[in-house]
Amino acid sequence: MDKTLKEGVHWVGVVDWNIRDFHGYITKRGTTYNAYLIEDEKTVLVDTVKHTFCAEYLSNIAKLVDLEKIDYIIVNHVEMDHSGSLPFVAAKAKNATIISSERGKEAIIEHYGDNFKIQTVKTGDELKIGKRTLKFIEAPMLHWPDSMFTYIVEDQILMSNDAFGQHLASSKRFDDEVDEHVLMEEAATYYANILMALGPLIARKIQEVVQLGISPTIIAPSHGVIWRSKPAKIINAYSEWSAGVCKPKVVIIYDTMWGSTDKMARAIAEGVASQGVEVRVLKLRASDNTAALTEILDAKAVVVGSPTINNGIFPTVGSFLTYVTGLKPKDKLWYFFGSFGWGGGAVRGMIDTAKKANFAVHEPALEVKYVPGEEALKKCFDLGNKIAHQIKA
Ligand code: FEO
Repeated sequence: MDKTLKEGVHWVGVVDWNIRDFHGYITKRGTTYNAYLIEDEKTVLVDTVKHTFCAEYLSNIAKLVDLEKIDYIIVNHVEMDHSGSLPFVAAKAKNATIISSERGKEAIIEHYGDNFKIQTVKTGDELKIGKRTLKFIEAPMLHWPDSMFTYIVEDQILMSNDAFGQHLASSKRFDDEVDEHVLMEEAATYYANILMALGPLIARKIQEVVQLGISPTIIAPSHGVIWRSKPAKIINAYSEWSAGVCKPKVVIIYDTMWGSTDKMARAIAEGVASQGVEVRVLKLRASDNTAALTEILDAKAVVVGSPTINNGIFPTVGSFLTYVTGLKPKDKLWYFFGSFGWGGGAVRGMIDTAKKANFAVHEPALEVKYVPGEEALKKCFDLGNKIAHQIKA
């Protein structure tokens, strides 16, 4: 396996083939925790890995250098999938200074105690390590307050930590070695489920990186494969996603108890499709929130349906709304529908939730008592038709 980014710059991370739930994000293709070793006059380790993989990580480093010879350990981000092995590697790399942002230092101490030698850096600070120079770029709230990037100036390698990642386990390390469609699908899923709410910050950070004169030929994130053949492809994709660029596409997300909301969803989908507009239909107990957010990323309209249970929203739909309102998809049109037996409540609850999140809610919503008959299904079809016309316009 090729693990060398450029001469003297190595991948020393691990592959987590079997993770399927990454704090609620369904990782159907697993992930990797990437860490890098730079050999120059100084030896520099960039990031660590989840603690359960610590032994493999230490072994990967030890194959290249004596751990005691490590001079610096850069902590780009303290979330435990990247810092979990820090106490163990720091114990072996006794002479190493840890480098982090100021907020990173606080987070390291709050996670692991105050036993480390830590040097903090700010945007634009440089560290000469021999023939190479490391430049640091703080990236607060992308996606934690402590986050930062490390750039190897001479090699033009941007170690961007979580940004530009993908949850994709592979025996391959580089973008040109994996299926491009799968790679972009996982990059989109990752953006939609982790970074979507941060679109404005991402757009500004891309501008700032350009203004700092940083022009990476390799982008080495902390998850998934390394972008060495087409770094511009992922930067362009982030520019589009962060700007909320979408296409004439409708996503219908719902759940059902006795099939009424399901019938409504199918009739709405027929109405959309009758206008030649792309439509995707996801029942939440057959799908998951992760897949739903990926579908929403490039869709113009989202239609959400729920039956009423206990005077409120069906639990899977409630969970979806909690998730999606946190991720704040940009510039979508929102529609709601549902069914009830007597009192109702689901549709009202969904609309209240969406309005609180400042979503553009289109009313009136469609509600059906017990089972939709011919007339109700015609109204659903007509709603689909109307949505298709609206997004084409
Ligand atoms: Fe924010 Fe991959 O951790």
